Amino acid sequence: MTTILVTGGTGTLGRFVTERLRADGHEVRVLSRHTQPHAVDLRKGGAGLDAALDGVGTVVHCATTQTGGDERAAANLLAAARRAGVRHLVYISIVGVDRVPFGYYRSKLAVERLVEESGIGWTVLRTTQFHDLVVRLLQGLAKPPVVLVPAKVADQPVEVREVADRLAELAAGEPAGRVPDLGGPEVLSFESLARAYLAATGRRRAVVNVPLAGKTYRAFRAGGHLAPDRALGKGTFEEYLTARFAGAAEGGRRG
Ligand SMILES: NC(=O)c1ccc[n+]([C@@H]2O[C@H](COP(=O)([O-])OP(=O)(O)OC[C@H]3O[C@@H](n4cnc5c(N)ncnc54)[C@H](OP(=O)(O)O)[C@@H]3O)[C@@H](O)[C@H]2O)c1
Repeated sequence: MTTILVTGGTGTLGRFVTERLRADGHEVRVLSRHTQPHAVDLRKGGAGLDAALDGVGTVVHCATTQTGGDERAAANLLAAARRAGVRHLVYISIVGVDRVPFGYYRSKLAVERLVEESGIGWTVLRTTQFHDLVVRLLQGLAKPPVVLVPAKVADQPVEVREVADRLAELAAGEPAGRVPDLGGPEVLSFESLARAYLAATGRRRAVVNVPLAGKTYRAFRAGGHLAPDRALGKGTFEEYLTARFAGAAEGGRRG
């Protein structure tokens, strides 16, 4: 069994990937900007990256920088992985990165291309949004007294542990190319997601649908980021809310 490096192994997804791989008996190394002994900024690369990849057979690339630079980070990672003789790189992407012209999605698509052309054996899994991200969006939208949600836009949130399990399974196997997408169990309008979040956190707010302009909005409205025919996830948004905010609705706000 070879060592597996999980980039971003401390993040929302990466920590569950790391946990699952270790539970399955793999030797796992974690890389992020703040994890010793492999504290590496992938956008810069350098000797620390080569050291982190020494003896590694498989990389699960979960790192992402909210402020940008994922293409440079991937280019550095792939060049170092080639030098180190890595056999398999598994990349997590997002459903619809080739259909929705949203800036972050464009950079995911560009990274997919880099991975495909890297000369390293590769696997790419696209999933829908994790429950956690949808809650973060709703936390922002629910700050004002009226919650404005994008009209006619839905989401299909997925349980991050299920994504982690699938990635761990893929990492333990042979390079498989682009594998079928993984979507959450239900497609729900933003209005219903917002109402469920408000109920779970004990808030009273009006929810108003607002139509937006532009091609990115049109692509989201057309469901470019959804995978209804791949609704394989089991954990529902409602279950996630209950686990996360249990007691908040009766006992005052949390989150
Ligand atoms: N969230 C979603 O709904 C969703 C859906 C589908 C796919 N994905 C994809 O899943 C991946 C993981 O997302 P996530 O939500 O788990 O992200 P996250 O919680 O923001 O975690 C990002 C991880 O990357 C590390 N990191 C950030 N910048 C770095 C850099 N320059 N060099 C090295 N490490 C760096 C972070 O640790 P440090 O801060 O210590 O560096 C952290 O461990 C991303 O590729 C994302 O596009 C996410």
